Amino acid sequence: MKTYMRNIALACCAAAFCTVSCSGPSGGRDADAGKKADELLARMTLREKIGQMNQVSGGYGLMDMAAKGEVGSILNCVDPVEINAVQKAAVEQSRLGIPLLVSRDVIHGFRTIFPIPLGQAATFDPAIVERGARVAAVEASASGIRWTFSPMLDVARDPRWGRVAEGSGEDPYLASLMGEAMVRGYQGDSLCSRSSIAACIKHFAGYGAAEGGRDYNSTMISERSLRNTYLPPFKACADAGAATLMTSFNEIDGVPSTGNRWLLKDILRDEWGWEGMVVTDWNSAGEMIAHGFSRDLEHSAEQALNAGVDMDMMSFGFISHMEKLVAEGRVSEDDIDRAVRNILKLKFELGLFDSPYVDVEASAAADYAPEHLEAAYQCALESAVLLKNEGSVLPLDNAGTVLVTGPLADAPYEQMGTWAFDGQKEHVVTPLAALRSRYDVIWEPGLEYSRDTDKSSFARVRAAAAKADAAIVFVGEEAILSGEAHSLSDLCMQGSQSELLRAVHESGKPVVAVVMAGRPLTIERDLENCDAMLYAFHPGTMGGPALADLISGKASPSGKLPMTMLRHAGQAPFYYNHNNTGRPCNGTETLLADIPVGAGQTSLGCTSYYLDTGYGPLFPFGYGLSYASFSYGKPELESFSLERDGILRASVRLENTGDMTATEVVQLYVQDIVGSVVRPVKELRRFERVTLAPGESRAVGFELPVSELAFWNAEMEHVVEPGDFRLWIAGDSASGEPVLFTVR
Ligand code: NOJ
Repeated sequence: MKTYMRNIALACCAAAFCTVSCSGPSGGRDADAGKKADELLARMTLREKIGQMNQVSGGYGLMDMAAKGEVGSILNCVDPVEINAVQKAAVEQSRLGIPLLVSRDVIHGFRTIFPIPLGQAATFDPAIVERGARVAAVEASASGIRWTFSPMLDVARDPRWGRVAEGSGEDPYLASLMGEAMVRGYQGDSLCSRSSIAACIKHFAGYGAAEGGRDYNSTMISERSLRNTYLPPFKACADAGAATLMTSFNEIDGVPSTGNRWLLKDILRDEWGWEGMVVTDWNSAGEMIAHGFSRDLEHSAEQALNAGVDMDMMSFGFISHMEKLVAEGRVSEDDIDRAVRNILKLKFELGLFDSPYVDVEASAAADYAPEHLEAAYQCALESAVLLKNEGSVLPLDNAGTVLVTGPLADAPYEQMGTWAFDGQKEHVVTPLAALRSRYDVIWEPGLEYSRDTDKSSFARVRAAAAKADAAIVFVGEEAILSGEAHSLSDLCMQGSQSELLRAVHESGKPVVAVVMAGRPLTIERDLENCDAMLYAFHPGTMGGPALADLISGKASPSGKLPMTMLRHAGQAPFYYNHNNTGRPCNGTETLLADIPVGAGQTSLGCTSYYLDTGYGPLFPFGYGLSYASFSYGKPELESFSLERDGILRASVRLENTGDMTATEVVQLYVQDIVGSVVRPVKELRRFERVTLAPGESRAVGFELPVSELAFWNAEMEHVVEPGDFRLWIAGDSASGEPVLFTVR
């Protein structure tokens, strides 16, 4: 070990150092990390500094680069033996022995896979989401990974975009709370604990607004909309102590984020005062050439560093050109020091200098621990949304023999969803396996995979349905159909899945459809071919037992939609918290079938709607049924007139009017009726999961500081404007009667 390493080791002194120094907000920090980074920085050559700013994926000659100090962080290495080998090259062969920061996309679990983040958002339960991130951190860190590229905070309002699977949907408040929960879970109480991993809030910014839902596409976002809608989750998670941030692929108003000084310096550093480390997305610096923003890789490296990027993921622009850029005065060594300081500081905070190596023997011990599987089960249980339950066909508590069919019933790999690199399908419990322990199951797949159009086994499915008391049809999307670069323009069920559902429905037996998908699909016609529908997203390792328990009535569904469900993909983008138009739909509009031949141009109702799909969505944001039923009283306010520095206190009486204990997500929405700029028709401001026994009622109270009603106004100031507001407390974004209050 190098002399420097010995000095650092003495200075840091492992465990005692961590417990004394690491405290504070999520991922408490080593208070001396900045000082240690400065001391180390002072000893580094320019080349060594640039090496720290270079992040390289496995398979790109890592050993050699690590030994020469030409790489600061690696990604996509997960074998602890390999990680130790490359770490050893960095620690023992490079001049200063600076350890590598090992990273990975641990997006919804490492080995134990939780529901996709969109499914996690449907729980409206930050506590279970935090547990999931903690489990991911424990498992990933045991394999030597200390940095994940999660949470994805992109507000996403277009289900054609395949990456809606990776985020929390269309609402900035929900995305903020889910993101904060993940940051807490990953980073734990102290970042230097060996089971903590650094979070990375991504993709900064506006990536979810890709035009047409086509991944990597341009975005058209005004500064106000960026600040009111897309930035709040980043601000919340930056404040919650997220250690790192990733730039996005997209451009906003002509400027790619990786070269956007306004975003990365003016807003992130100067306005927010955030002190973490900024990494590019994969080759997003290099892609500024394709954007037509940079002339060549040298130019893009210059632009990225000057905009505020600290670490270059996989463009090799920094390592190849930065020395020349310094020599020519196109970048300053001060900016390089800023970047390297942020990187080294994080390495000190993570305790990497104390413990650079992973314990290979113990690395797999944490995987699939019983408490990890239990948390994944609970999360899957809470994430399923009941969309239909005609005749209370669910729960299937009296069925003896059930037909289980459909391409997602026994598809362990698909059930994990997108970005589940390290989950092993051998550990997944499918619905088929779980249902077999509850019912006498007749199994007929019907279709092999979601895009399958071969209907040759439908006759067998029909015959099986005739013998069963009920049928459960598992349809949806294979994992590959959502996630990065997997946009779709048609959101109907793929292949012959809708026909399969119809064939089963024609049997006349009760039909339960379970949809496992990475996005809200357009399922209007499928709803007609089932009596009940559970929307399970991709539920992960323990999806099978969770769904079997919901189907059999051991638990009641409690998930709520984190995205509006559309009738037709042509409605996208369509989200509940939209601004109103001057001609909102008023219910008198004429639809396609009713238009008289030769109708006059202005005879149909001049409002904002579609002639074919009308105005409303299929299901609104926040929607989800239960096996119980809940009745809401009228919201009560402690005061109807509030000061701008006051606190709004509102409550509602909620009663379980059903005959089963169940959980309801009570949601509080507010509308600022008149603003200096047009405001959304309503916005989620609070929610709470409330569990009630049959016949039980409870007053559910919320506190909302009036300051949280601030928005970026006509003068681009973040203020609460006095005036009248509407408030709803209801079970979804389209229900409830508003009460009025005033802010003075
Ligand atoms: C590209 C993706 O956009 C990003 O989310 C991911 O973290 C990186 N690749 C690294 O795999």
